[in-house]
Amino acid sequence: MIDCVARAPGKIILLGEHWVVHGARAIAAAIGLYARAIGSRSHEDGIVVRSRELGVTEDISRECKVFCNLREAVNFLAKTSGREPWPANIVIESDIPMGAGLGSSAAVAVAFSACYAALGGLSLDFSLISRAAYESEKIVHGRPSGIDNTVATYGGFMIYHKERGFTPLSDVRTENIRLLVIDTGIPRSTGKAVALFSKRLNVLGAIGYRLLNIADSIVDETVRALKEGDPAKIGLMMDVAHGLLNAMGVSHEALEEVVHLARRLGAYGAKLTGAGMGGTAIALVSESNADIITKELVRKGYKVYDVEIGVGGVTYEGSS
Ligand code: PMV
Repeated sequence: MIDCVARAPGKIILLGEHWVVHGARAIAAAIGLYARAIGSRSHEDGIVVRSRELGVTEDISRECKVFCNLREAVNFLAKTSGREPWPANIVIESDIPMGAGLGSSAAVAVAFSACYAALGGLSLDFSLISRAAYESEKIVHGRPSGIDNTVATYGGFMIYHKERGFTPLSDVRTENIRLLVIDTGIPRSTGKAVALFSKRLNVLGAIGYRLLNIADSIVDETVRALKEGDPAKIGLMMDVAHGLLNAMGVSHEALEEVVHLARRLGAYGAKLTGAGMGGTAIALVSESNADIITKELVRKGYKVYDVEIGVGGVTYEGSS
C-alpha cells in the first residue's frame, strides 16, 4: 500500500550565478521537472530506499553506498522530533537530469524528506524539510549555498544573497511564457568554473567590481519585469547577464551556439545557467514559439526540456 507520494521541483538560476559567490544577488526559480518519493510504512525494521533511475536498492538503516545523503536527512528528521529513525520503504523517481545543475539531488532529498516525515506522522513543515534536505545536500556538494533545497521546498522565485539569505518573490507574472532548459551534454565542473571566474574577477580589479554592481542591478530590473509580466525585458536582462558571464570566461562554444540559435528563432532572451563552461542553457520563449525553437535545438543534437517556470514547491500528491 502506498502511504505517501511527495513531489519536489528542480531549479534553474535565472540570473546572478557566480556573482552571487562574490556578494551580489541571484534569482533562482523552480521549474516544472520533478523528483518524486513514493513511500509506504513498514512493519519490519529497516529504511529501504530504491531509485528507479539508478536501479539501486539500499537499506540505509544498515549501510549505504549510494544513498548516504538521504540517511543524513533521516537522522535530522528523527533527531529534531526527538525519536529514533522509523522504518520505511521509499521509492525515488525523477525526471530532472542529473549533474546538469538543475538541483536534481536536492529535489530528491526534499521529496524523500517530505515522504519520510509523513510516514513518521509529522505534518508538512517547509522549514524542517528544507533543513533536512540541506543535511543531505552537504554530503553531495560539500558546502552548498542552500539554493537548491530552498527552491525545491518553497518553489516559485527566490532572491538569494550570501549573507542576507533567501527572499521569496511574490506576485510574479508568468502568463504565456515558457522556459526551455537546454542540456548541451558538455560535462561541467562547478568548482573549476567558480575558480576561473574568481581568478578573472581578481585580475580585473576595479573593472570586475563594476561588473559585479551591474550584475546586481540586473537583478533589480528583472524583479520589476517579473512583477510587471514583461517577458521582453526579462529576456533582455538574461541576454545582458549572459554577456557578462561570457566576458568572465564561463561560457562555452556549445552554450554560445544554443543562446544565439534560440535568440535568432525568436526567444525573448537566452543565457547559460548555473556554473557554465558546458552544462545547461535557458531560453525564455512564448508559448507560441516554444515548439519551433525546441525542434531546431533538438535537430542540432541538444536535449531540451520545455517547462513552466516558478512552479510550486514540495507537495503531497495524494495518499490512500
Ligand atoms: O552549477 P549549479 O547550477 O549548481 O550552480 C552553480 C552556481 C554558482 O553561482 C556558479 C556557484 C554557487 O555556489 O553559487
